[in-house]
Amino acid sequence: MTAQLNPRGDVAVLVPAAGAGVRLGPGAPKALRPLAGEPLLVHAVRRIAAAPSVHTVVVAAPAADVEPVRAMLAPVAPVIVVPGGADRQASVAAALAAVPAGPEIVLVHDAARALTPPALIESVAAAVRSGNDAVIPVLPVVDTIKEVGTGELVLGTVDRSALRAVQTPQGFRRTVLAAAHAATSDPLTDDAGLVEKQGVPVVCVPGSEYALKVTRPFDLALAEYLLSARQAG
Ligand code: CTP
Ligand code: MG
Repeated sequence: MTAQLNPRGDVAVLVPAAGAGVRLGPGAPKALRPLAGEPLLVHAVRRIAAAPSVHTVVVAAPAADVEPVRAMLAPVAPVIVVPGGADRQASVAAALAAVPAGPEIVLVHDAARALTPPALIESVAAAVRSGNDAVIPVLPVVDTIKEVGTGELVLGTVDRSALRAVQTPQGFRRTVLAAAHAATSDPLTDDAGLVEKQGVPVVCVPGSEYALKVTRPFDLALAEYLLSARQAG
């Protein structure tokens, strides 16, 4: 199967897109829901394909929707589509297994972060290329954070200056991500968590507010606004 973007690129992007979108409310799987008339996944893949270093894209689709997702993405970019798994980590593992020989940098990028600028994809890839085994894009935490216990009783205030909100794409040397996935099956919410468990240093780079994860209805409305106001390319 030939499904390459830039044949000289050194990056494979895995796109977990098999989630239901429970927090978005009833409807189709989240990646297939419309944002300004096109599925979230189409927006995400178009931006990934616009990043010049990308050689291969592997999408983990809802298992029941593999064929429609293939048909939907064919006009957007040459991508490999595989059935996703029961949790995000299983979907990432399925996509990782489908990466052809070649790319030595692997990025994992949520379909739900549909407006992520290609420049962020490039900056994460560049940080891996320059010698870091694991790279995550982050934003400072703006709210005060409290730790709470039983009965919503406040236990204390966390020092916000040491906290970061973590986005995707998360970038890895391919061998490092493959080893981390092979070593653990405890489901975590991100891939950097897996490599941290292996003792691999994880480096932060600046994230982007446009890489917001569409999770709740408010996020979808915000993404619609950003597109209509031409705030997001
Ligand atoms: N994901 C996946 N396979 C799963 C679960 C999640 O590929 N079994 C993907 C989602 O499609 C999404 C990304 O992981 O692109 C981040 O997950 P999240 O925002 O939690 O999406 P959903 O699981 O779809 O949403 P919810 O938790 O509200 O159901
Ligand atoms: Mg989820």
